[in-house]
Amino acid sequence: MGPFDWLPQAPLEPLQLDWLNGVEVAVLRLDRIDPLISGNKWFKLTGHLAQAQQAGASGIISLGGAYSNHLHALAAAGKRFGFATVGLLRGHPQDTPTVFDLQAFGMHLHWLGYGGYRARHEPGFWLPWRERYPHLHPVPEGGGAMTGALGCGVLLEQVRTQLHTLGWADYDAWWLAAGTGTTLAGLVLAEAGGHPVFGAMAVPDDHGVAQNVQAIVQGGYELLDASRGGFAKADQPLLEFIATTEQACGLALEPLYTGKALLALKQQIEAGRFAPGTRLIFVHTGGLQGRRGFAD
Ligand SMILES: Cc1ncc(COP(=O)(O)O)c(C=O)c1O
Repeated sequence: MGPFDWLPQAPLEPLQLDWLNGVEVAVLRLDRIDPLISGNKWFKLTGHLAQAQQAGASGIISLGGAYSNHLHALAAAGKRFGFATVGLLRGHPQDTPTVFDLQAFGMHLHWLGYGGYRARHEPGFWLPWRERYPHLHPVPEGGGAMTGALGCGVLLEQVRTQLHTLGWADYDAWWLAAGTGTTLAGLVLAEAGGHPVFGAMAVPDDHGVAQNVQAIVQGGYELLDASRGGFAKADQPLLEFIATTEQACGLALEPLYTGKALLALKQQIEAGRFAPGTRLIFVHTGGLQGRRGFAD
């Protein structure tokens, strides 16, 4: 498989909303890099795909849920670039728009149940799958770890080369959703102390975001709680905020990550966290495919 030299460019666009209170925000639209392969997922996958290629693998085996953006991007990439994909899914067989797409992209699915999926961090978990699919390269949940983080470094370059379109010479900080913290860690690594990175944690503390990030970088970032009481919980104010934002400026968000991240930014601006004139890069990490059938 590979080599994979596809490096999609994410547009950088100014955000206009009435609550910004003089803070200037530009959105790095990872949701717009491609019609099918969306968001931070492609960037997190690139290093894993390079490793798979070096190992002489013929495809990738990975895990996720029935709405997984990671599996969706992986399956779409497999179809686009002609490599085999196998997905190990959480829970019992169900039909979601995501699962339908995975199958249409040619991903082979195995449903692990809930207990089976919980065992994914146990030492012997991969053994039977490695035996069953010896030619496939395993990728951890969400395309994480150092390999995933390093692939996100190119986003810094994409922002730098587009700053002039906003009339900006520089920016002050990054703001993005964190699920595992891999994308955030990749930006922190690439910044090497240049600009701070704020991570709006879309998942509760016990998901280990802080530990994941600490395993990759030391300092240069700040994590804030944006979980709103749990992962996959979409409360009414959040859904209203997403609808209002889309009406006001056309920016589509989903309730699991990007909606929570932008709402957390609004709250911080209202609390006076950023002075007027501060310039922020908000990363739209995609995930819009996952909202089909979910929010209703
Ligand atoms: C749409 C979307 N945004 C953000 C994230 C979080 O990225 P990370 O796991 O790198 O923190 C994910 C997945 O985890 C996602 O699917």
